[in-house]
Amino acid sequence: MFNQFPNLKTGEPLSKHCWYALGGPADYFIEVTDIDEIPKLISEAKENSIPYIIIGGGSNTVFHDEGLRGLVIKITADSLEFESGACRVVADAGVSMMRLVKESMERELTGLESLFGLPGTVGGAIFGNAEAHGTAIGGFLESATLLDNNGNLKEVDKDYFQFSYRHSKLHSTGETILKVTLKLNQITEEDLENEELQVLRNKAEEALNFRKDHQPTGRNNGSFFKNPKGDYAGRLIDVAGLKGAKIGGAYISEKHGNFFMNDGTATTSDLIELRNLAKSTVKEKFDITLEEEVRIVMPNGTYLNDEN
Ligand code: EPU
Repeated sequence: MFNQFPNLKTGEPLSKHCWYALGGPADYFIEVTDIDEIPKLISEAKENSIPYIIIGGGSNTVFHDEGLRGLVIKITADSLEFESGACRVVADAGVSMMRLVKESMERELTGLESLFGLPGTVGGAIFGNAEAHGTAIGGFLESATLLDNNGNLKEVDKDYFQFSYRHSKLHSTGETILKVTLKLNQITEEDLENEELQVLRNKAEEALNFRKDHQPTGRNNGSFFKNPKGDYAGRLIDVAGLKGAKIGGAYISEKHGNFFMNDGTATTSDLIELRNLAKSTVKEKFDITLEEEVRIVMPNGTYLNDEN
């Protein structure tokens, strides 16, 4: 199988490819820089009835301790181009959010300051309409190149995504983002005279400082659960008395209740048990069902989240 792909690996530990550093081996694993290879890989996987999962930076995916009895396609393309004069940025899905915001600011393109410090990649951020301090990334999207479930490429515009809080239509279509075009704002002469640039730089600095003050560093994937309507997952977990709760090597941060950490010795089972504990306690105490932001992939390629 996959004979025409010489760089395909077998038994690759998936812990090397996700932010949590968790997960067993993938039967087949390939890093792809040329997106034209992806349709061929998918059709071969389908012909052989093996599941496939596509990942980017791995900040929103956790694999099972037993890994995946299938193929993991990791997109490593990370080109970032600025169309001068047009305030447009064309970014591969694998570009880190940190780099996108930093390089945009260096070119005096504005809008993304509040997202400075956000973990993960551009693809993951658009998929989940990442938001911080009232700014959601979906608002800046102009168009995107997607890969559908048959491995075909497709160009779509912003409306296609039907963005809402931490959500896009791709959660249900299962399509993968390959490339996005964002439209940012250009600082004007007048803004410069009013020292607007410094104001925006301060905003970015404040966003970063907020993270330092309120969120832990270490192995985590950012917010573990979405905020339920009208409340905050972190607050609920905190009030339920679960901060510091630990199962094996997975624990809930003392600094923020919605940060689930790996102390370096955790397994995915530890993390799943901790997630179960938080979900059941919050359900019992507040009658609220928390929904994960992170996707937990089972060995057969289904998502644990979908089974609930
Ligand atoms: N709170 C507690 N206890 C806690 C944590 C929070 O009582 O342990 C309370 C806070 O005091 C506050 C409220 O809950 O009143 C909300 O907390 P916070 O301001 O930290 O924001 P959040 O809703 O937990 C969201 C995003 C973050 C983003 C921040 C800042 C979600 C799920 N998370 O967090 O995004 O950085 O706002 O804008 O919407 C991420 O995407 O990975 C991420 C971290």
